[in-house]
Amino acid sequence: MARQVNVVERTDIHPKVRLVAKPSSGLTGTVSIPGDKSISHRAILLGAMAVGETRVTGLLEAEDVLSTIAATRLLGASVERSKGGEWRVWGVGTGGFHEPDNVIDCGNSGTGARLLIGAVSTVPIVATFTGDRSLRSRPMQRVIDPMQRFGARIQARDGGRLPLTVRGASNAVPLVYELPVPSAQVKTAVMLAGLSAPGETCVVEPVATRDHTERMLGAFGASIRIEELAQGKAIFVEGHAELVGQRVAVPGDPSSAAFLAAAAAITSDSDVVLPGIGINPTRAGIFATLREMGTRIECLNERLEGGERVADLRVRGSCLKGVEVPSERAPSMIDEYPVLSVVASVAEGTTVMRGASELRVKESDRITAMVEGLRTCGVEVTEYSDGLAVHGKGPGSVHGDAICASYLDHRIAMSFLCLGLAANNPVGVDDASPIATSFPEFVDKVTEVGAAITSAP
Ligand code: S3P
Repeated sequence: MARQVNVVERTDIHPKVRLVAKPSSGLTGTVSIPGDKSISHRAILLGAMAVGETRVTGLLEAEDVLSTIAATRLLGASVERSKGGEWRVWGVGTGGFHEPDNVIDCGNSGTGARLLIGAVSTVPIVATFTGDRSLRSRPMQRVIDPMQRFGARIQARDGGRLPLTVRGASNAVPLVYELPVPSAQVKTAVMLAGLSAPGETCVVEPVATRDHTERMLGAFGASIRIEELAQGKAIFVEGHAELVGQRVAVPGDPSSAAFLAAAAAITSDSDVVLPGIGINPTRAGIFATLREMGTRIECLNERLEGGERVADLRVRGSCLKGVEVPSERAPSMIDEYPVLSVVASVAEGTTVMRGASELRVKESDRITAMVEGLRTCGVEVTEYSDGLAVHGKGPGSVHGDAICASYLDHRIAMSFLCLGLAANNPVGVDDASPIATSFPEFVDKVTEVGAAITSAP
């Protein structure tokens, strides 16, 4: 009889999808991975803030990015998909957003919400943002604070939660802002707000986070300067910028690739190739960690595409051992701790993952969600305020025979389905529908290489 953990309701709109993963081996083949979610949001948003046409290939067509597309349309941009799958954006220019005539619903996407709040805060319009139940519980004070310092007036629910209304500053002032949390979303919100403010805005990050915005803004013609200071990296953005529409080629998402890499790493006789994956060092911590654990990962055909480093990854499983993940690596793999804790469950020895308290404010509290589900599957885990330690007992040691709660979190759902491939008995998730927010083809892609994932009764 499968043990069941606490089950939460999936969003306001989606019917629940129950899936179950069964023990699998010999995952083999080449799998194309959809576009990078972070880069996709940015391509649409910068396209909407530019003058002229932006063409985006490889865009991630998942719920989160579709929410951002809908938002930019409400703000006055035209966004269309051509038959061949290329997306075209006709922007309104920096400072040119129209006042939306409806509430902007960011769905499940923290990135969409925070970047959009930044982009409108220095434009003299009123915009109200909301999202699904998960997003409405996530902290927005981290963007509200700097936006108020630009001169925006923001009314949020208690605790700085969505829904919130921004009255953008009509006389914005530029800002020097040191990030209190290592967050690329907050960094980007400040940079986007700085684009429509006068003068030079500076954001300082004591800990390096993903740098897609800096790279892409440079390509769109913004004046960006980066200096290494004693307190960290300082990014200077010239305000009243004129962005010009560009062509953007979105690489495969390393965070989505991580699930296929993990599935190959923990199943015997697997050999999977993942072409065109972004390996930007600010994102690639998971691959370094999997290697340290013993996974064989080769980076083939390394190249630069649209200013981002890309490679074809070949991943083969082997004996895995527990490791201590350096806490300074956390920002470069913050979304990958759930699936890493699954890999750690079938490794020999303890894997320590600390310095990652941001996991508590993602789409779910990912520390609690993983600790709870792993324990239900028979894995020994220690919980910390800033992470977890998984005491792996090697291949064949995870009992499974459980249904885990996904807590409206795509990465929790995919992680437990990966665990089911390497457990002794099936592992189900109570609701796999959130997977559509970032990787709608996940089940097709893993079953394509031989994994057993099916609908559960
Ligand atoms: C993202 C930044 C990270 C990450 C999220 C995407 C981005 O969030 O977890 O999935 O695109 O900037 P934080 O900025 O909150 O660390």
